[in-house]
Amino acid sequence: MKTLLASLLLAALFAASSASDVETTHPEPCAVRAWVRAEDLSPDHISRGELRIKVPRAECANQIASVALRLQLDEFGEFKYLKGGAIIPEVQPSNQSTPSGYADWMGSDVVYDYQAHDDSLSDPALWAVKAEERRAWTTEATLIENNPDLSQPIVTAFTVAVPCVNYPPVLQSNHRHILRAPVLKHSFSDLSYRYFAVVTFIDGRIEDVPAGRTTFIPSLQLNPQQTLRTWNVTFEDFDCRRDTSPAMKKRDEDLEKCLPEVDRSSFVAEITLEEGNILQRGQSLKGRVTVRRTKDGSTAMSDISVSLVTSFRDHWAQAQAAAGGDVEFYNSTSWPCSPLLYGSRELCAESERFAYVFDENDEERMIRSRHLSFMKPVSLADPYYDFEIEVPPETPVDFTSYYTTGESLLQLRLTVLYSIDIAKCVQPNDFKSNIPGDEEMTTDETAATEEGMWNMYTRVGKSAISDTEWSRSMTLQAMVPITVVRGGAVPTLPIMHYLTPGALAPVLRSGAQLKMPASFPPVQPIFTVEALANTSARLMQPGSTDPYQRRMNITRLQRDYPDPARNYQNGNYAGVLWKKKVVAEERGILPMRTEVVDGGDRQQSFHIAP
Ligand SMILES: *[C@@H]1O[C@H](CO)[C@@H](O)[C@H](O)[C@H]1NC(C)=O
Ligand SMILES: *[C@@H]1O[C@H](CO)[C@@H](O)[C@H](O)[C@H]1NC(C)=O
Ligand SMILES: *[C@@H]1O[C@H](CO)[C@@H](O)[C@H](O)[C@H]1NC(C)=O
Ligand SMILES: *[C@@H]1O[C@H](CO)[C@@H](O)[C@H](O)[C@H]1NC(C)=O
Ligand SMILES: *[C@@H]1O[C@H](CO)[C@@H](O)[C@H](O)[C@H]1NC(C)=O
Repeated sequence: MKTLLASLLLAALFAASSASDVETTHPEPCAVRAWVRAEDLSPDHISRGELRIKVPRAECANQIASVALRLQLDEFGEFKYLKGGAIIPEVQPSNQSTPSGYADWMGSDVVYDYQAHDDSLSDPALWAVKAEERRAWTTEATLIENNPDLSQPIVTAFTVAVPCVNYPPVLQSNHRHILRAPVLKHSFSDLSYRYFAVVTFIDGRIEDVPAGRTTFIPSLQLNPQQTLRTWNVTFEDFDCRRDTSPAMKKRDEDLEKCLPEVDRSSFVAEITLEEGNILQRGQSLKGRVTVRRTKDGSTAMSDISVSLVTSFRDHWAQAQAAAGGDVEFYNSTSWPCSPLLYGSRELCAESERFAYVFDENDEERMIRSRHLSFMKPVSLADPYYDFEIEVPPETPVDFTSYYTTGESLLQLRLTVLYSIDIAKCVQPNDFKSNIPGDEEMTTDETAATEEGMWNMYTRVGKSAISDTEWSRSMTLQAMVPITVVRGGAVPTLPIMHYLTPGALAPVLRSGAQLKMPASFPPVQPIFTVEALANTSARLMQPGSTDPYQRRMNITRLQRDYPDPARNYQNGNYAGVLWKKKVVAEERGILPMRTEVVDGGDRQQSFHIAP
């Protein structure tokens, strides 16, 4: 029965496909798939790589005339800023009736009308938008010629020679995910080193087939003599007031009324880093933070955490917005308001993200997670935190590219607590009924430790943690500037930044050439401004900023908007595929190949059985 059904299905399929063959006068054109595995690029270095070409359909095996490989560096930047003098209508109280549950969520039963305000966010008379792509360079060489037999996949060697120039590293994160409609003040940038197989078919048709992407590992020279070891930093309430909705404004007013800033305690930290503030990736960062109270007020220190963060600032967009009259753009797209701060990691084969690919032992995978941030309780009696953080190998190095600047910071976050009475004043809705246990909260440490003995979740000798702590706390921050550099040998030659006039571009060559070329071409960037209609289709989409509406209806940007940078982060990362080859050879899974070191032009191509 099963067989009969299968043959019926097959018959139907054949019927369908032969029917469509009859209908279409041209058969489906031959397709090609392409892969690159290659070492990362770095200055004054030759990266080895291999291109693999395969045709999925047997009848296409002899349809390819030649294949070239192209590598290109593309950078992208975009912004949306408020034109000078433009006014966005204020959100107005509305006469609409209050939806049920509204007050519990919003903390007030006043309903606001966002319509005029929201409509203005996609009004082209008020906003300036622009997006452009900068193709820094392309380099291309023919790797396969003379109508090869592709009945089996072909693998062929190439190298990329890089002059003494630092190009930008690639970041893994794709911050586009956080875009929601409507887009407010906005800047975004991205960049990508991509390989394309340029396939010429025997009928003359030429097709660019994406073959993967790579990254650049810049060499940074720094004088460790200039490192600093000790700082005093002041903790501040760095809340970013992005959301200026009436509900948030009311919250801020209530907080200031119940917990006036002048009455709060002040805290500073003295921070000492054992090895100073120039950090090498892969090493550990050891230091001590001591929190001091410089003014006694209504808040008490509770715990502290230390973490490594990177702040990105799209300086190109900020300069254009400043010139266009948007004076607030700089702050709203810089730290702490910039959404690009956290979680950015460089693309890197050594990254934890790819670790499982190289694990021989499945169980190891679970154990190998690195903690970037720890928390420790602090008090006046015990104000120290001796920390040790591993600097992950993929921590972004400080680098300024055409559109953006990345800077590393050590972020100290201090949680401070205020009294239950203040909490009740700030959020009366959360304290409609008395929470049992509140009355036992005490600031006396001995008494708090005794309370802890009678709570099954508290560690022996520690203070009890109040159920209401979350509602009585606020987080203060302080930042220490640090510099992250790549470990390893310091380059001996002076290395030029890629935006310096006269900078040279890499060269891709066929074969396994490991000699530097006699010369490199100059960098000649090509700019392409995206059509305004397309930029607007992406950045001027309508939507609501009403927090109540947004809670009910999270509107992501429509997925099908045009986006020149859409494929920047797509495709295989050639560095991981190369590392797989190296590891497979070491483990005897692939035969060890002795490298042919010849400066000549000999094309090294070989077949690998499927
Ligand atoms: C609410 O206000 C609008 C205009 O401000 C008015 O047209 C409408 O009749 C009002 N509705 C109620 C129920 O008062
Ligand atoms: C930090 O402040 C303390 C107390 O005022 C002072 O003793 C110390 O020298 C300061 N350290 C630095 C690096 O300024
Ligand atoms: C931007 O931030 C700085 C530092 O916090 C502040 O002094 C300045 O007033 C801000 N500018 C605007 C326009 O808000
Ligand atoms: C959700 O938002 C979209 C776009 O703003 C809108 O078209 C839709 O009506 C909203 N749905 C609800 C249930 O509010
Ligand atoms: C606009 O975007 C569409 C869809 O991505 C694309 O096909 C078209 O070429 C773009 N137009 C211009 C002028 O760039």
